[in-house]
Amino acid sequence: MVGKFISFEGPDGAGKTSVLRQIKADLENELGTEQVMYTREPGGNHISEQIRQVLFNPENTDMDGRTEALLFAAARRQHIVSEIVPALRAGQVILCDRYVDSSIAYQGAGRQLGEDAIWQMNQFAIDGLLPQLTVYLDIESEIGLRRIAEHRADQVNRLDKEKLSFHRTVRQAYLRLYHRYPERIKLVDASQPLAKVVADVRQTIHARFPDLFVEESKR
Ligand code: TYD
Repeated sequence: MVGKFISFEGPDGAGKTSVLRQIKADLENELGTEQVMYTREPGGNHISEQIRQVLFNPENTDMDGRTEALLFAAARRQHIVSEIVPALRAGQVILCDRYVDSSIAYQGAGRQLGEDAIWQMNQFAIDGLLPQLTVYLDIESEIGLRRIAEHRADQVNRLDKEKLSFHRTVRQAYLRLYHRYPERIKLVDASQPLAKVVADVRQTIHARFPDLFVEESKR
């Protein structure tokens, strides 16, 4: 498969959405829109979007942790088959907003289901498909939560409502993943101003894929 699979990770409030919007626009300018695919988890196709509705329905407060983890993995599986593999075959650059690391951090650590157990369970879903690069946007939990409170008070979902300790646990798990998979996962400091975060992400992508963001090497 000839495409490039890049995932983006980070605790809530890291600014992933704003960063990705900019990176997508920059890459489309460079390569043309048909070469770039932005997609998000859970979602990206009609089946996974339906699973997303179940996961984020504020009325589903009684959802069991393992049910939640299995639904994320099910949405992931369908997303791989419907979106990612065809895009890889077509040679596109895939910008994937969250992937399996989210489940390890949120369900494995945050919900205390066990990072190894969630990793194992997800193997069935991903069937060996990992991104060639994972950009991890790191943010201190207090700053991340403050950003959410300031900018998105109207759209706080069920999972955003978790308390500070949950966010801290999620971040620690991300940092463990970063130390465990240094080849795949690269860390960007997301507490910096947005323009600097975007510049660092461009540099990170260029370092892994020298034919992307070519002008980056001249800076
Ligand atoms: P979303 O509204 O897409 O926001 P964000 O911009 O933060 O990605 O919500 C995604 C939420 O789902 C986020 O709180 C993390 C959570 N999540 C998991 O708990 N496990 C997973 O496997 C994935 C993909 C997401």
